[in-house]
Amino acid sequence: MDAMDYRGPNRVRVARKPVPTIQHPQDAIVRVTRSCICGSDIHLYHGLVPDTRVGSTFGHEFCGVVEEVGAEVENLKPGDHVIVPFNIACGQCHFCQQGLFGNCHESNPMATAVGGIFGYSHTAGGHQGGQAQYARVPYADVGPVKIPDWMDLDDAVLLTDVVPTGYQAAEMAGIQKGDTVVIFGAGPIGIMAARSAWLFGAGRVIVVDHLDYRLEFVARFGPAEVYNFKEIDDMAVFMKRQTDGLGADVCIDAVGCEATGSALHTLLGIHLKLESGSALALHWAINSVKKGGVVSIVGVYGPTGNMIPVGNIVNKGLTIRANQASVKRHLPRLIEHVREGRIRPRELITHRFELRDISDAYRIFAGRLDNIIKPVLLPNG
Ligand SMILES: NC(=O)c1ccc[n+]([C@@H]2O[C@H](COP(=O)([O-])OP(=O)(O)OC[C@H]3O[C@@H](n4cnc5c(N)ncnc54)[C@H](O)[C@@H]3O)[C@@H](O)[C@H]2O)c1
Ligand SMILES: [Zn+2]
Ligand SMILES: [Zn+2]
Repeated sequence: MDAMDYRGPNRVRVARKPVPTIQHPQDAIVRVTRSCICGSDIHLYHGLVPDTRVGSTFGHEFCGVVEEVGAEVENLKPGDHVIVPFNIACGQCHFCQQGLFGNCHESNPMATAVGGIFGYSHTAGGHQGGQAQYARVPYADVGPVKIPDWMDLDDAVLLTDVVPTGYQAAEMAGIQKGDTVVIFGAGPIGIMAARSAWLFGAGRVIVVDHLDYRLEFVARFGPAEVYNFKEIDDMAVFMKRQTDGLGADVCIDAVGCEATGSALHTLLGIHLKLESGSALALHWAINSVKKGGVVSIVGVYGPTGNMIPVGNIVNKGLTIRANQASVKRHLPRLIEHVREGRIRPRELITHRFELRDISDAYRIFAGRLDNIIKPVLLPNG
């Protein structure tokens, strides 16, 4: 089959690889119909995620048709068209039992923090991803959800990560009715967080980025008030001015470890690797939220050290909530939101690529060229 193939930082290509086979009675093999490239893949592409091995296939956002199931799979049969959540979860362990599907204790033998994730380095279990014609899906009775007949495949594929992650960012923020919510990052995750903040009762939603085309999109799609950080001198002071001097009730970090905007963080975190990436957006979130407020982090950070203003967290009495999204837990409600038109995920998709153009797709997405917001791959045409 054709599959994306990682060759080292900034180098990906399409390669011929064997079609995956059932390795465990709870596996399924899926023929991929849609597969996205995510902002998280860009951290891999830039070589920022530890133990990203040459020869691996990325891709944690995919949907597809079940080709074959293992002997113990009961909920799926060949021909079912399924949404495959990005987390690989056993459904049985202490953490899965609490709905923490992103923290499954069984699906990632390499670490005890994050659970298994498709195509996301050996730090996240070494599972091959779905930027390929076929993918092996472990614990097939646990994660996948059948796509309802009425649902568009472009909506379905965004339910594997983008929509649930944005939604969980808003959920973790504990938004109270009328709250002012500030979101750093107007990528697909920040855009969905903005949309979701309203569903949780926000009174005001503000989004910060430096890419005007994304700010214009979220201004309409959120909707949201938008600000370009290039025009802001001091983020904390600016946000206080916007909020009667107190600060935002809630701040969401939807940027993660590749935040731009500070020469210091870029030097230390990206070039010298003295911290694991640049945590500038998280600094801004901590410093822009009011005393007693909540900071919700869905931006991805490496497992090693970051310079975080912990003194401000303590002295302001902040609550920090963070996680990989537990996709499966949110799907029933999110499918309803899509059906009722309260969320229209497919509007985020700006680009479509065939697998053979994977190298261009990564270059354009990583470079934020051509006003790209969300690219989708069509591995089987
Ligand atoms: N926790 C999870 O489950 C989960 C799931 C998916 C993605 N993620 C992470 O969420 C983050 C966003 O994902 P995405 O797909 O939207 O990525 P993206 O790269 O498309 O978007 C990130 C946006 O942040 C902007 N940005 C850069 N520096 C900034 C700053 N200092 N302040 C404000 N904005 C800034 C960029 O211009 C860009 O528009 C990534 O770190 C990704 O890895 C987490
Ligand atoms: Zn993703
Ligand atoms: Zn588990």
